[in-house]
Amino acid sequence: MIEIEHCKDEVKQLLKKPIVLVGMMGVGKTTVGRLLASRLGWAFYDSDDEIVRSVGKSISDIFSEDGEPAFRDLERTTIKHLLANGPCVISSGGGGITIPETAQAILEKGLCVWIDAPVDILVKRTVGSDRPLLKHGDPDEVLRMLLDKRRGAYEQAHIHCLDTGLTPDEMVDRILLQIREHLFITSPEKENEEYLPEAMCLTVSLSERSYPIFVGSGILKHPDLWLSGELHGRNAFILTDYNVRPLITDQLADQLKPMMKSVSVMELHPGEQTKSFERYQAVIEWMIENGVKRDSVVIAVGGGVIGDLAGFAASTILRGIDFIQIPTTLLSMVDSSVGGKTGINTKTAKNLVGTFYQPKCVVVDLESLLTLPRREWLAGYAEIVKYGLLADEGFFEWLEDHGILMLDGDEGSIMRAIETSCHMKADIVHKDEREENGLRALLNLGHTFAHALESAAGYDGTLLHGEAVSIGMVLAARLSQRLGYITLEDVNRIYMHLSKVGLMTEIRHVKFKTPVTSDQMIESMRKDKKAGVGGLKFVILKKIGEAELEGGIAESLIKEILEESLK
Ligand SMILES: NC(=O)c1ccc[n+]([C@@H]2O[C@H](COP(=O)([O-])OP(=O)(O)OC[C@H]3O[C@@H](n4cnc5c(N)ncnc54)[C@H](O)[C@@H]3O)[C@@H](O)[C@H]2O)c1
Repeated sequence: MIEIEHCKDEVKQLLKKPIVLVGMMGVGKTTVGRLLASRLGWAFYDSDDEIVRSVGKSISDIFSEDGEPAFRDLERTTIKHLLANGPCVISSGGGGITIPETAQAILEKGLCVWIDAPVDILVKRTVGSDRPLLKHGDPDEVLRMLLDKRRGAYEQAHIHCLDTGLTPDEMVDRILLQIREHLFITSPEKENEEYLPEAMCLTVSLSERSYPIFVGSGILKHPDLWLSGELHGRNAFILTDYNVRPLITDQLADQLKPMMKSVSVMELHPGEQTKSFERYQAVIEWMIENGVKRDSVVIAVGGGVIGDLAGFAASTILRGIDFIQIPTTLLSMVDSSVGGKTGINTKTAKNLVGTFYQPKCVVVDLESLLTLPRREWLAGYAEIVKYGLLADEGFFEWLEDHGILMLDGDEGSIMRAIETSCHMKADIVHKDEREENGLRALLNLGHTFAHALESAAGYDGTLLHGEAVSIGMVLAARLSQRLGYITLEDVNRIYMHLSKVGLMTEIRHVKFKTPVTSDQMIESMRKDKKAGVGGLKFVILKKIGEAELEGGIAESLIKEILEESLK
């Protein structure tokens, strides 16, 4: 259960410096700041008001009579002065943090929270206001241009908090939640396993397509926390599978009914075969029959299969409508629900048809995991290990120490593993949303092997995606060692950890219905969408915690590695 009051008390107790709100004009820094300060029982200062008071002129007059540089100087000294006040809330002008000296003071002496909102919301809120920078030109264009110019400065903030059409009260709740989470992450208490945050909010930062990831226990029972105001009153189309429906979906649909115009639920067959053209067509026709409109919203409640299919349907129906990801498996919580890859399989290979389409938000409720079968836990765990191997040796080490505890249901470890994985995925997606600069491709560590194994197993539950990824990571580690990057000890360390938690590590562990050969798998890899003009591509480990995409790898070497694992 999330108690904002409790969260507020913790912020009050732990935070010893001012909270500085930054962001574009129109995001509500003053309204939200005043409310936040009153909830915390702290003083509130608006840097613009302080300047007006000290100079005795309006901001407009300072701009027109003295120019913007003079105003920025005043702003810098005013903010520095306010930062000396100890715990309080400061709303800083929209451009303050773009001045390096002001930014340095805010970041060193305060806790900087960037309130971010889509430009269309900003336009609505600033219409008719007396803002000097909006006096010339179309407000939409000016705001977009300003945001583009300032984004880099805002991104320095300690916390990125998204306003997706929330009321000021809801926004204050969200800020408190994120501040508490930030304090948890940056405080030495993080090492104290007894400290368990009940809910947190991370942000996938993608300009206009940015969205929050809510993680907590019991949060599905609190749609008010995650369903932003702009989505209220719409027609909701929930896609789920028949395992998840009685466990989670029906209750959620009841919770949502008072907030939505209508809530329809479609139940699909569980399993990979649901990611097909036939099921996709059935979903689209069901939505059309039930009166889908451009402002309808698709809600995926289930594992990666439902999330991928629902996202694909949402991205294509009526040229794209809003959708929400509610992942219910460990794998979908840490991987597939974040990042906007949607898709279905073809007869020849996985995920060959799909889109990049970001959700409006992702809601991860740890309570959903209570009913998840052990085998699915392990499959999700493989994707968590992947993050450690490709980008964070410290996290891999932590998993070596805590993996079993986590798989046994220790809530603190589960929260930490999910949080770290989502952070890493959000960061990678932020830097390479459409897999164009090679960074996002690293998330495919072990996947070229895994997809070939899944294809050979036939998508019928013989081999789960995460199980295939586990074997694939061992094979990728062996490939990296043969190419001269990691050592045999590293390979052994990876192998030992995966097998210790109970994951499959060799192809021969899979109970294929018909025997599979290395040639068959290589043929399948050639059809994988990662294969390029230069032949097969693999993510290889330069060391544990560092990966790279490498092409031009001899098929004879791949064959050798596959043969060893088949024997
Ligand atoms: N889009 C991406 O970026 C991305 C990333 C990784 C994987 N994927 C895709 O994700 C899919 C695998 O997802 P998955 O592992 O979640 O499998 P899944 O969706 O098939 O779910 C696994 C099983 O768990 C059941 N289940 C789900 N939640 C449950 C719960 N809370 N309690 C009890 N049972 C529950 C489901 O009914 C199903 O039988 C694959 O198709 C893979 O390609 C996509």
